Amino acid sequence: MTARSAEPDAADAELPGHRVELRHARLLVLGANGPTGRHLVRQALGRGYRTHALTRHPETFPIHHDRLDVIAGDATDESTIDAVVADSDAVVCTIGTSFTRHPVRVYSATAHQLVEAMRRHDKRRLVVVTSASLTPSDQSGRTVGKACRSLMRNYVGKTVYDDMAEMEALVSVSGLDWTIVRPPGLTDEAGAGYAVEETEVKGGFCSREDLAAMLLDQLQDDRFLRKVAAVATPGLRVGALHMLRHEVLKR
Ligand SMILES: NC(=O)c1ccc[n+]([C@@H]2O[C@H](COP(=O)([O-])OP(=O)(O)OC[C@H]3O[C@@H](n4cnc5c(N)ncnc54)[C@H](OP(=O)(O)O)[C@@H]3O)[C@@H](O)[C@H]2O)c1
Repeated sequence: MTARSAEPDAADAELPGHRVELRHARLLVLGANGPTGRHLVRQALGRGYRTHALTRHPETFPIHHDRLDVIAGDATDESTIDAVVADSDAVVCTIGTSFTRHPVRVYSATAHQLVEAMRRHDKRRLVVVTSASLTPSDQSGRTVGKACRSLMRNYVGKTVYDDMAEMEALVSVSGLDWTIVRPPGLTDEAGAGYAVEETEVKGGFCSREDLAAMLLDQLQDDRFLRKVAAVATPGLRVGALHMLRHEVLKR
């Protein structure tokens, strides 16, 4: 299934059923100050959401809007998450960290705090981003590609992907209205419309602008409720060296 990146609609446009309610909901974005998170916040505001943007570095957050609250805090901190979840109706989590040989806990610790706080405050809708690298690779495809994916999953990015898997495990047994979104390599190319399928989709890259649109679309769509959605930008190609320099070694 392919969709164009959604352009901002008029904030007061009519939508059927429960969607009207969500449209005027307060949306909490975790990882708001990352490159995907910034697209997400801009698009959410464009669609009319009141938006809470959580970042550890509010002084560097570039977006200002009368429906935007920028909240300083760490996503793994219980009292921070409790307070922002209590004041939100839906949560989209795009937090991320760089590859490291050290153990990573930020995905699972955030998921733990989110699930507990959402249960406490009776909030339901949770959309989290992990990675296509968690999808067991099929037997098709070229040997070189499979070897690269295996190298990333089991060596270069092992501690990050292990913790993402822990996040998925926590979210998928949470009983909440969750969607796990797995993109492949992210790029800063302009959105060109995304493809989405359950579990696996063709395409080695995803524009962050498209990913943000797809994440927001989940708030108006229950097709991937309690499912893993794979998303990519069809036809998007990026050189391996560019990807290595800008995404793998970026920090
Ligand atoms: N890069 C890729 O190719 C790729 C591929 C597949 C999946 N993903 C996933 O896609 C998502 C978006 O990636 P991205 O590259 O656009 O963003 P990113 O560079 O991974 O940044 C995400 C943001 O998370 C925030 N963050 C990290 N730890 C935090 C904490 N403890 N508390 C609060 N905020 C925290 C940081 O903002 P502050 O420092 O301002 O708090 C950071 O800017 C991530 O989940 C990433 O793992 C990335």
